Amino acid sequence: MPVAVVVGMQWGDEGKGKIIDLFAENVDVVARYQGGHNAGHTICFDEKEFVLHLIPSGIFHEGKLCVIGNGVVVDPMALADEMRQLEAVDIDLEGRLVISDRANIIMPYHGVSDQGREKENGKFQKIGTTGRGIGPSYADKIARIGIRTCDLRDEKYLRSRLEANYEEKSQVLKSLYGQQLPGFDGLFNDLMVFREVILKYLVDTQVLMNKLISQNKKILCEGAQGTMLDVDHGTYPFVTSSNSSSGGACTGLAIPPTKIDRVLGVVKAYTTRVGEGPFPTELLDADGEQLGKVGHEFGATTGRQRRCGWFDAVVARYAIQINGIDALILTKIDVLDGFKTIKVCTGYKFEGTVYSDMPADPKILENCEPVYTEHEGWMEKTAGTKDFDDLPEKAKNYVKYLSDLLETSFLIVSTGPDREDTIQLGPLFADS
Ligand code: GDP
Ligand code: IMO
Ligand code: MG
Repeated sequence: MPVAVVVGMQWGDEGKGKIIDLFAENVDVVARYQGGHNAGHTICFDEKEFVLHLIPSGIFHEGKLCVIGNGVVVDPMALADEMRQLEAVDIDLEGRLVISDRANIIMPYHGVSDQGREKENGKFQKIGTTGRGIGPSYADKIARIGIRTCDLRDEKYLRSRLEANYEEKSQVLKSLYGQQLPGFDGLFNDLMVFREVILKYLVDTQVLMNKLISQNKKILCEGAQGTMLDVDHGTYPFVTSSNSSSGGACTGLAIPPTKIDRVLGVVKAYTTRVGEGPFPTELLDADGEQLGKVGHEFGATTGRQRRCGWFDAVVARYAIQINGIDALILTKIDVLDGFKTIKVCTGYKFEGTVYSDMPADPKILENCEPVYTEHEGWMEKTAGTKDFDDLPEKAKNYVKYLSDLLETSFLIVSTGPDREDTIQLGPLFADS
């Protein structure tokens, strides 16, 4: 059962794109299971950098099948843009990309509503979303009024689905956000244009995934966002609107839980977060600035500055439990090269109690004081190191400390953005 899931263990941007691209070489299929173009997965090789938002991070490896699962919300414009960008660098998507015919479509009114809600500060809780319409689109999915990719196959049915939404959406947008929805015909025509682009990629991915599994193909499920942004397990309400943790791979790709063989967690050597919400180890001082500067911590999707802080073992332990992590992947250790002292948070202190399990209560998360262990920095270069033995002793100790603390071993230590900047300590699957 060579099916592995790669998940982010923090608040996203852990370096999942780099790792999935790296693993893609040794698998047959890479499949996205949730989220949408709120994701920004960066891949660097041959001195080039690509950021993927919707298309799975295996696309740069010839012959690998890339699947967009039913759990993903698909924005037509974003998808078409990304397809064009890839075609411009000679990547032929036909036969390489398939899209579930059960995925929900992000409509223009979802984006307007997302952005409108964020602007109306005071009336609504500002989340700091990417403004891509992700939340409103998933809300419609759950409310059973969403438009799905399979609806594009039948013009009459598609029209009826849009009609069922149009009146309500235009009234809500107008009265709440003072926004005029484009005319019905315009919206419908745009869907008809999208249909021409996408129809040939649509397949029943439930059947496909089942077949691939029965053929013993190696499948890598690509998580977007991170565990702390999961709608159920994250720092609610400051989360995204899908299950980014490993369970999402089952529902978002129709892979039965019994068929998942491995779950790998990607974790940065420190912590970042974009948007609003509690962040116990956030640093608002020179150290935070240094992490942001050296780590180039700007969002790959929105360009927003990422908030930075020390490694949080409460978060990591929680993510190990929620996802059932078998092995860890540590990224961006090189960003710590210039720190004299490095801290790791092992608990949250609040009103005399130290919490080592993730509390649900936002009041605790917002007001707690992190309990830190301190580690002497290595003050040497790890950037670009390819062999664990070549790491400075204190960097090795940092990795070992984290591994002991989390009672989980590391499969990869990443020492730079490029594919080559990688220390691989074991195979993805036991037999590869
Ligand atoms: P993702 O959303 O999890 O795929 O991560 P992003 O692509 O949004 O952000 C990770 C950033 O860190 C990207 O700019 C990557 O190129 C970069 N990156 C990944 N791994 C490393 C690493 O080990 N060291 C450094 N310095 N940068 C890395
Ligand atoms: P990748 O896959 C980091 C954050 C947003 C916001 C919250 C909700 O690149 O790791 P949304 O637009 O999803 O409704 O926003 O989630 N967010 C991410 N942060 N990386 C991501 O994806 C993110 N996708 C969403 O900043 O705080
Ligand atoms: Mg990202």
